[in-house]
Amino acid sequence: MHDVMFITGTRKGIGRFLVDHYLERGYRVHGCSRGEMEDPPDGYTHHVADVTDGAAMHRALTGTARSEGSLDILVNNAGIASMNHALLTPASTVREVFSTNVFGLVQTSIDAAKIMTQHKWGRIVNFATVATPLRLEGESAYAASKAAVVSYTEILARELATFGITVNAVGPTPVATDLIRGVPAEKLSALLSRQAIPRLGEPADVANVIDFFIADASAFVTGQTVYLGGVV
Ligand SMILES: NC(=O)c1ccc[n+]([C@@H]2O[C@H](COP(=O)([O-])OP(=O)(O)OC[C@H]3O[C@@H](n4cnc5c(N)ncnc54)[C@H](OP(=O)(O)O)[C@@H]3O)[C@@H](O)[C@H]2O)c1
Repeated sequence: MHDVMFITGTRKGIGRFLVDHYLERGYRVHGCSRGEMEDPPDGYTHHVADVTDGAAMHRALTGTARSEGSLDILVNNAGIASMNHALLTPASTVREVFSTNVFGLVQTSIDAAKIMTQHKWGRIVNFATVATPLRLEGESAYAASKAAVVSYTEILARELATFGITVNAVGPTPVATDLIRGVPAEKLSALLSRQAIPRLGEPADVANVIDFFIADASAFVTGQTVYLGGVV
């Protein structure tokens, strides 16, 4: 049974939903975020760790593997966005976005994959966004960081295939979380109108794709990015 899962960014938003979703399905779920989780559900173990802090993430991942006996599935959900015109986005903000969305994800993936290679089985699921294929104005740093995630997913998938580890990505449409709280209503509806199915996404829509990627039967599915809402 491959049931030990680590989810980054679980304090709130989609990550928080995923904790309950996978506990209900019998997974042994660990996760992390920079802050403590309020009212963590029974059976879930929270690590206070920033994905940009390699040492803290190494402790969280190896600690999970030590206490549970393995680490089977990594869901790289933690992410931040910066929504502003490129000319109004300071370099420090761009660096922060890439530090979390790209460098944090890369380091976390490598650490987890090294553990997974010992068992010759693993699943890594990364988070992309429809902002990348939609070339969304006002989200240049965020969309570019997630483009890097897609490229990294595709190449890591090839490099880890020999170890029985798959690497895929899910690309949500807008989902009503704090991440998009600052997006003006008219901008949001313009964005939704560019989707084949013009509605907000739900965390369950995202979980459905992750369910598929992590299934035992999906061993032949790797290097893929599935965008939701009919965005291509
Ligand atoms: N919501 C959307 O519309 C949407 C659309 C497309 C893609 N996505 C992607 O979906 C993922 C989840 O987004 P969300 O909407 O759930 O965002 P959210 O509501 O803002 O939640 C982000 C989560 O990540 C954690 N986090 C942020 N920076 C972190 C870091 N450096 N280290 C560890 N944890 C960190 C936060 O907890 P702490 O503050 O405690 O660290 C929080 O639990 C992201 O990768 C995002 O890019 C979201």
